[in-house]
Amino acid sequence: MFEAIQKLPPDPILGLTGAFDADPSPRKIDLGAGVYKDESGNTPIFEAVKQAEKLWHEQERTKVYIPQPGYADFNTALLKHVFGAGHPALAAGRIRSVMAPGGCGGLRLGAELVNRSRPGATIWLSQPTWNNHVPLLGGAGLRIHEYPYYDPERHEVDFEAMMEVLSVVPKTDVVLLHACCHNPTGADLTQEQWDQVAELAAEQGFLPFVDLAYQGLGNGLDEDAYGPRRLAEIVPELLLAYSCSKNFGLYRDRIGMVATVAKDAASAEAAETHVTNIARGIYSMSPSHGGAIVKTILGDQRLYGIWKQELDAMRTRINGLRALLADTLEKKQSPVDFSFIRNQRGLFTMLGLTREQMQRLRAEFSIYGVESSRINIAGISPKNVEYLADSIIAVLK
Ligand code: LMR
Repeated sequence: MFEAIQKLPPDPILGLTGAFDADPSPRKIDLGAGVYKDESGNTPIFEAVKQAEKLWHEQERTKVYIPQPGYADFNTALLKHVFGAGHPALAAGRIRSVMAPGGCGGLRLGAELVNRSRPGATIWLSQPTWNNHVPLLGGAGLRIHEYPYYDPERHEVDFEAMMEVLSVVPKTDVVLLHACCHNPTGADLTQEQWDQVAELAAEQGFLPFVDLAYQGLGNGLDEDAYGPRRLAEIVPELLLAYSCSKNFGLYRDRIGMVATVAKDAASAEAAETHVTNIARGIYSMSPSHGGAIVKTILGDQRLYGIWKQELDAMRTRINGLRALLADTLEKKQSPVDFSFIRNQRGLFTMLGLTREQMQRLRAEFSIYGVESSRINIAGISPKNVEYLADSIIAVLK
């Protein structure tokens, strides 16, 4: 059976973690997979999560199956959190969500729903986008096209080129948009640009599919949800995949959701039955633990306060590290201007180095970033920034 199957190379992002762990160098720096790290390079469990887990442990009375869409109070609380409690689409019952195993689960369920509605539909991805979008969405049967997004010379969104292409996307297609903290570039749309994209989507009639994987890590919880909130005000239909991996630090618990905004409450309910039916045919239903923790935090004012404070501190630290790296490179008279790193948002930036330069960073300096030149800003610290800046400058020469 398996004679025809050849060994695959490691995953371009997750494979870096294993290589980093095996590297004996005392100077090594992990700037690979997008996980938050503290000053010592650890990814601690949120205090709010620890407390919620204790509460849940005491309350949980059974391990019987949870409802197919997941916990009702998880879905209600998270939808309010994403769209804002008073959002008209929520009030009209036009939004339904299903708990999913991580943001990846949410993306795949959304893509499967599209493929059920319109088999082989085309989905447009930003160029560049997160590596895993292609297998996750394409694997559901969708055809992948790209729209221009990032100008690597100016290190910012090429909005004109993006709008030019989106303005001819037909109404039968889907457009994937990163809500905030664009992965891999860190270059986000402004609120004015979101307004224009939303108006264009309403006019053209294509289906926006928003990936919200970093709410609270860009500019703030409300600010980072501006795009999907605005879209849901003016488009009849929308999909949204949500990840709780980064902003609750629940990576290995695999918790996220997919939300469907439909033209009316009955259509939203119909979509939900299909999403749960799709999940049933793949893995039956979402696991419980992560959803239980998120709903406990969102449903408890005290825990919510602790969580928000922790998230705010993470965001402030990441933005401080952005400035630290840009300042250090400038102080060391880097031949390339890296000031753009300061103003981007989220965990990532693309240094603009070539594949060969990234390979040299890894082979000669034990610095692990994705070969596309994406680095995880959270892996930087005051202890390693001098070495990192010297190494970047060395491979540029
Ligand atoms: C990343 O982009 O590094 C993270 O989202 C982790 C992953 O699954 O790729």
